[in-house]
Amino acid sequence: MSDHHSRISLPDEAATAAFAARLARALKPGMVIWLRGDLGAGKTTLARALLRALGYAGKVKSPTYTLMEPYEIGELQLRHFDLYRFQDEEEWEAAGFRDEFNERNICLIEWPEKAAEHVPQADVELFLTEAPQGRHLACRANTRMGRECLDSLPN
Ligand SMILES: Nc1ncnc2c1ncn2[C@@H]1O[C@H](COP(=O)(O)OP(=O)(O)OP(=O)(O)O)[C@@H](O)[C@H]1O
Ligand SMILES: [Mg+2]
Repeated sequence: MSDHHSRISLPDEAATAAFAARLARALKPGMVIWLRGDLGAGKTTLARALLRALGYAGKVKSPTYTLMEPYEIGELQLRHFDLYRFQDEEEWEAAGFRDEFNERNICLIEWPEKAAEHVPQADVELFLTEAPQGRHLACRANTRMGRECLDSLPN
């Protein structure tokens, strides 16, 4: 099934965790995933659940002030960005963020639009919105790797 767009209802945080567990199994090194949605839409909740599903047992902080938190989980390298407070053009280079986008790291990015000229294109975009019950999630693949990821999501 071709699944460039899919829509999923996430009535509560447990549903977010269940989706994250499916996504965790379909991730590949080098993937860039944009987490989009308004303040409080549930982006960090999803990122945290994804890290848990990948087996990370430590504390998952929101990278609100650090802009990026690195995680090493076994063989896997993951970078969790929150660019809401990104301002300075030079900050991107100074922080070495450019080098974080490589074939090894999985990059999850909240608020990619805040550093639009620097952030690489997403393989997968996840859009969260408030729903009458919990949240609504729309998934979109922009690249072949992204499409393969969404196509291979386990049930
Ligand atoms: N599927 C869900 N159903 C109901 N509530 C949820 C769901 N996912 C997250 N929440 C709640 O939404 C609130 C905000 O979540 P979160 O911090 O993940 O948002 P965010 O998108 O990262 O916000 P920000 O843009 O400020 O970083 C939390 O209180 C969380 O419990
Ligand atoms: Mg957040």
